[in-house]
Amino acid sequence: MTRSTGFATRAIHHAYNPLENDGALTPPLHLTSTFTFETAEAGGEMFAGEREGHIYSRISNPTCDLLEQRIAVLEGAEAGLALSSGMGAITAVLWTLLSPGDEVIVDKTLYGCTFAFMRHGLAKWGVTITHVDMTDPENLSAAVSDKTRVVYFETPANPNMRLVDIAASAEIAHSVGATVVVDNTYASPYLTRPIEHGADIVLHSATKYLGGHGDVVAGLVVGTAEQIAEIRLVGMKDMTGAVMAPFNAMLILRGLKTLNLRLDRHCASAKVVAGFLEAHPAVGEVYFPGLESFAQHDVAQRQMSQPGAMIAFEIKSGLSGGIEFMNRLSMIQRAVSLGDAETLIQHPASMTHSTYTPEERAEHGISDGLIRLSVGLEDVEDILADLEQALPYPARSAA
Ligand SMILES: Cc1ncc(COP(=O)(O)O)c(C=O)c1O
Repeated sequence: MTRSTGFATRAIHHAYNPLENDGALTPPLHLTSTFTFETAEAGGEMFAGEREGHIYSRISNPTCDLLEQRIAVLEGAEAGLALSSGMGAITAVLWTLLSPGDEVIVDKTLYGCTFAFMRHGLAKWGVTITHVDMTDPENLSAAVSDKTRVVYFETPANPNMRLVDIAASAEIAHSVGATVVVDNTYASPYLTRPIEHGADIVLHSATKYLGGHGDVVAGLVVGTAEQIAEIRLVGMKDMTGAVMAPFNAMLILRGLKTLNLRLDRHCASAKVVAGFLEAHPAVGEVYFPGLESFAQHDVAQRQMSQPGAMIAFEIKSGLSGGIEFMNRLSMIQRAVSLGDAETLIQHPASMTHSTYTPEERAEHGISDGLIRLSVGLEDVEDILADLEQALPYPARSAA
């Protein structure tokens, strides 16, 4: 091929030729824990890194390898790594990069278990965790020093949708030699490719949009070939063992084939739902990068091709009103996770972000009344109808 192919074509074809695999259109599932060496010497050479090949599936596996190549090409990175979960990806990356005495600067808002790993986990091992409001790059500029080893953020952040300007933050981090790690779970490479904006390592909970069907827990990381080799051998093989099962790699490969189609639909519906919520008299603040009223609308336009399909909002009648509203929903499912075909709703303070103490939540911008909605693939009229019947009073009755 003389021209570089588009996103969907890469997601479907990259790095696989059926004719090299008995004509099998779908890549084979390599359900094997270990691999046979042609000779004892060949095995020794592989262990010494002098010969290519698979040794044992806690290090690499051909089905995972294909997925690793696909996510790397979709993110615009040199190499990829498949892990057992998003948390497996996050912990393997950070155990590899950090030593006691290092500092990690992180945004104020993080997914609950990432926050717990950093604040209650890494901090115990002599790593300093410094939270900075990264919605303003000036704050990062004031915080970095030669102790800063990693700058880490989510954009959009789970659950309150805050955005971080990737290019501005990467420039500041690089000025002190820090590695920029971005959790791109909410956007996916279809909407944002952080490496194009200067990030070094990008990771995902592939459980979400990449898998897309709510049937698998998985994680992915991309970076340079050198970084990924180190994370594979240190963070994944030795320190966490958080390896992806080949069957799960197959499910993610299948999910990737429709990522762009699903996200176009997710995003189109989310825009309608966000507009509906913003206009509803029972709803308070609505946080969605596609709304003109969104504080960081300009950042969204610079680094997201579409605003995504996650919405955070508050009900005016507060926490109890929010709980009653959630309990009145009938089609929309009360469940954590996101990026599935089903529209999912949850209450971060008591669910995904209950790893924060109430004081920490207040300090980190996660209000008790916040509700998180993952807009699914159902007919948008049905999503709106369910929300409308469950909200405290109908939109049209308000003057
Ligand atoms: C932004 C974000 N990062 C990481 C994770 C962790 O991923 P996993 O549940 O696949 O371990 C999640 C899970 O909800 C998440 O929302």
